[in-house]
Amino acid sequence: MSAASIAHSSRSASLAGRVRAPGDKSISHRSLILGLLSVGETRIDGLLEGEDVLATARACRELGAEVDRVGEGEWRVRGVGVGGLKSPGKALDFGNAGTGSRLMMGVVAGHPIEATFDGDASLRSRPMRRILDPLEQMGATVVFSAEGGRLPLRLKGADRPLPIVYESPVPSAQVKSAVLFAGLNAPGETTVIEREATRDHTERMLRAFGAQVTVERRGPHGRLIRLVGQPELTPAAISVPADPSSAAFPLVAALIVPGSEVALDGVMTNPLRTGLLTTLQEMGADIALTNVREEGGEEVCDLVVRAGSLTGVDVPPERAPTMIDEYPILAIAASFAVGETRMRGLHELRVKESDRLAAVHAGLLGNGVEARIEGDDLIVVGCGAVPGGGAPVTTHLDHRIAMSFLVMGLASERPVAVDDSATIATSFPSFVPLMRSLGALIDFGEE
Ligand code: S3P
Repeated sequence: MSAASIAHSSRSASLAGRVRAPGDKSISHRSLILGLLSVGETRIDGLLEGEDVLATARACRELGAEVDRVGEGEWRVRGVGVGGLKSPGKALDFGNAGTGSRLMMGVVAGHPIEATFDGDASLRSRPMRRILDPLEQMGATVVFSAEGGRLPLRLKGADRPLPIVYESPVPSAQVKSAVLFAGLNAPGETTVIEREATRDHTERMLRAFGAQVTVERRGPHGRLIRLVGQPELTPAAISVPADPSSAAFPLVAALIVPGSEVALDGVMTNPLRTGLLTTLQEMGADIALTNVREEGGEEVCDLVVRAGSLTGVDVPPERAPTMIDEYPILAIAASFAVGETRMRGLHELRVKESDRLAAVHAGLLGNGVEARIEGDDLIVVGCGAVPGGGAPVTTHLDHRIAMSFLVMGLASERPVAVDDSATIATSFPSFVPLMRSLGALIDFGEE
């Protein structure tokens, strides 16, 4: 790890100010991909210019689209349309991006083309069988792959993709989206059944681009999604709302640094993304949702957050899909709370950018917080006061582990250092300046 990417945070005076988190990562990837799959010009503003999304932009170019940056967050995509993709001349390198690589596998699988997918050590370690299984059913073939279907892998798309009915064994918006993207070039109806509803940006955005998508409830938490194949997608103008998963870091920082009051503008409150807000409110957090409005087909609002005491809660497993990326930062909030917080059903955390269950647990223990893992549950025993801090945290190429522990150091007794802050640029390149603008003490290098 380069010494330059070590960063540490220290106990800060009250945070104050009004900021906007960068564009939503999920919507940013999908904007570029839908631009590629429609004929004509898609205009995007507020695109997240993080490394993950930039990798998707490069892949769209390799597959035939013209992709141009015309200003800060302002992008134009001239797509080739469903059926119009070409085989890329070189391997598609997705860096750290699980979402970009998996969604694009769906796109490639539905076309008579071949592409090689690769990424960094984190992405190479992540399971891809969950994506390849349905795509093979649709007619795609894996030409080669690393062990267990991992990256690097070469995928040959179907000459004539088959519409399927697919019930995903894992609750994953990435799996759902890959199947729907492959289904775009299949005749007839492609159906995805999810036992637990996951973020629905693909469904909403496909509709905005002119595809026929219907959604029905299925069981207590599930959904059945139908897509009519071979639509002519027409470009849409997209305004990307602020990413609730990124806003989560200044939000929790404002809750735990005494005396803070921070406003977070334009945060998306899609109900399938608000698990963290619900949980923090149950913990007694002072968060006001103001100026609720609609932007770009999503509900957004300005959050006003004030520091205060938090109480431990029991987080039910069915909430996991709506706050899947927020457990690391919730664990930090929980370590400042009074009493125990039990987060149930976190098996999917083991296969994120790192094994987040293990990484969070190790980081908490090192910094003086009592925590344990029981099966798929993480239990954090709140300090009721401030955790000790003082220990270096290993981030395992995981941006959310890095940001979570830098937030912890803003309110713990001693500073907290992370071994690699470079990885933050994958999803939140402006994290350090934004946090500093609120008064957070974050510095690079060892303390
Ligand atoms: C995402 C879905 C989630 C999430 C990821 C983004 C998406 O992954 O963790 O950061 O944009 O579809 P899974 O669908 O695999 O849970």
